[in-house]
Amino acid sequence: MYLIICSLLFLLSACSFTSGAESAAGSGATPGYDPLIIAHRGASDLEPEHTFASYDRAVKDKADYIEIDLRETKDGELIAMHDEDVNRTTDGEGFVGELTLDYIESLDAGGGQKVPTLRDIVSHYKNKVKYYIETRSNADGKITMEDQLLQILTENKIDDDNVIIQSFDEASLLKIHERNPDVQLVRLLRKKEIQELTTERLNEISTFAFAIGTYAGSTDKDLVSMARDNGLDIHTYYYDDEKELAREMFQLKVDGTFTNNPKFARETMNPSK
Ligand code: G3P
Ligand code: CA
Repeated sequence: MYLIICSLLFLLSACSFTSGAESAAGSGATPGYDPLIIAHRGASDLEPEHTFASYDRAVKDKADYIEIDLRETKDGELIAMHDEDVNRTTDGEGFVGELTLDYIESLDAGGGQKVPTLRDIVSHYKNKVKYYIETRSNADGKITMEDQLLQILTENKIDDDNVIIQSFDEASLLKIHERNPDVQLVRLLRKKEIQELTTERLNEISTFAFAIGTYAGSTDKDLVSMARDNGLDIHTYYYDDEKELAREMFQLKVDGTFTNNPKFARETMNPSK
């Protein structure tokens, strides 16, 4: 009798272990699923965005890529900054395109950090990190960053495999593709473009880009399938709503995700780790 009770208890504990493992898998842990973790403006939840502190933290927390938004100063230097002006992220004022590099370098970008140039970042990390760089047109709608960007990468001997360039501006991506077809490109899509997306359009994008970048709130199962059916990966970004939407994106198995906190992204992707 004692032996029978012990056997029953053993079987019960084995069953409960199995159902625990299954439940972890159901909540997001997926063996073999390893999307790109892109540190959005660095680990920008934890350190001032687009500074060496935020990039160092992203590297420490094992992001696959550091994201760099580019802006061009009045004297033509490419700096890491998202906004068209310095007001939100520094103690200075004014539009980047109307300010000199000397002035911008005198500003505090938070916690004593400085605004780095692209040259500073790339010459510091070289091929020890992967770069996910965003280009955009200037205030006059002209595309002016591409040659200098490629030149900085070349001067620093950055492997093409360590670079992804993204843009909402297709002309910018086409210019880069023409200069160097080996650079991996991502076409960012606005909400309206997603709503009007067709197979023909995705086919066209796939001639120069390997992926589309979409806002998570506009991304669903159908969009992911449509991208895949047309040979494109899909990377998703957030607007201060990463915590609400990240799990859903991982369940959709997107190929890459922007995150303000790479450690959070990995824990959300695979809560059992
Ligand atoms: O690059 C995708 C994502 O970064 C777009 O959002 O932060 O540049 O406005 P953001
Ligand atoms: Ca960006």
